[in-house]
Amino acid sequence: MSAGDHERNDAWQRAVRAQFPIIAAHPELAYLDSAATSQKPQAVLDAVHTYLTSSNANAGRGTYPWANRTTEAVERARRRVAQFLGDPAPGHSTVHLTSGTTEGLRSVARDWLTGYLTDGDEILVPYADHRANLAPWLEAQDLLAARGVHVRVRPLPYQEASGDYDHRALSSVVGPRTRFVAATHVHHVYGGDMNVHRLRAAVGPDVPICLDAAQSVGHLPLRLDDPALDVDFVVFSGHKAFALPGTGAVWARNTRGPALRVGGWQGTPNTVGAVSLTAALDWLDTLGVDRVNAHVSALTTRLTDQLRHLPAYDVLGCPASLASSTELPTAQRRHGIVTFRHRDIRSDDLGFILYSHGFMVRADSLCQAGVDDTGGKDGSVRVSLHVYNTENEIDRLLAVLASLE
Ligand code: ALA
Repeated sequence: MSAGDHERNDAWQRAVRAQFPIIAAHPELAYLDSAATSQKPQAVLDAVHTYLTSSNANAGRGTYPWANRTTEAVERARRRVAQFLGDPAPGHSTVHLTSGTTEGLRSVARDWLTGYLTDGDEILVPYADHRANLAPWLEAQDLLAARGVHVRVRPLPYQEASGDYDHRALSSVVGPRTRFVAATHVHHVYGGDMNVHRLRAAVGPDVPICLDAAQSVGHLPLRLDDPALDVDFVVFSGHKAFALPGTGAVWARNTRGPALRVGGWQGTPNTVGAVSLTAALDWLDTLGVDRVNAHVSALTTRLTDQLRHLPAYDVLGCPASLASSTELPTAQRRHGIVTFRHRDIRSDDLGFILYSHGFMVRADSLCQAGVDDTGGKDGSVRVSLHVYNTENEIDRLLAVLASLE
């Protein structure tokens, strides 16, 4: 990047950062926990305020103007999600609004998968990703077993010590009864892109794939009109992409197997959450997800490259993604998440030490499936970034980490 480009990027980033009131109000703190939830820009706060002070009512019930406007706001959020994802099948697809990725994955498992599988089928699921992307599939297996339908759950293979799926070993677990795959787009601990396009190549054209996109929506351009991303469900959390807490969505393609129909009485939707989701996706599109990605990837690279020179720290995940080489395909870079352990200091202690210097990080088991959640030996410290974070914050964090060597 030329000096001029660098200056223009800095000015852009300062202007974007200034749009987050909570960040502007706390210059002494650095929020480094965006993989847990994002901060909210003024545009989202304004949309929420306008809705609550002009149209707040229930959706799908009354016929007076506030109620009609609210019903339309919820429908608009559904359409906005489909558009944001580049929905290639609008005639068939549906968008179901949820409270977040956990509820979304559970809905795919309970409302769709249990009606789709038959006795003797096999499903492939990730045993080292977020627990929210493992537990629902095991629950579906139990529900089916109670009905006398026995389904085999097989682990997606991982490359040893890398954190990526082992795409070569996949062929040995895919068989004629493989009927469903659950995968993750960007890993919530390792930060790497899990190369899901290779899953489609391994399982063939007919097997539905469900993608946990909790850590990629708002970070990476995620366009379903790109044939490389041939998945059947995209599940994400709106609150990690600048919308309010308690927001998320499931996009369902509905062309492989039956359409997703969410069971049971739905009750009152999260109307203000839907308003915030539309505003957040509008804001992101105006900003440009490519630009967000470039900024966050540059910060992530800066952090990982410097951490490599601090021998007291072990960085978890794919070694390839530690390199800053521009020759590496984007897929091998980290997307805003760097997780590490200090060789002598317990991770939970390190979390407290970092907060005493103003850094808010997550320091525990990170809800990773298969990891002891007492936070002891298996705990780690996760730094997760978004568009409001700065080079200066990374450099200050590195200085503190170096002082603990
Ligand atoms: N799933 C969120 C995280 O990884 C809460 O922190």
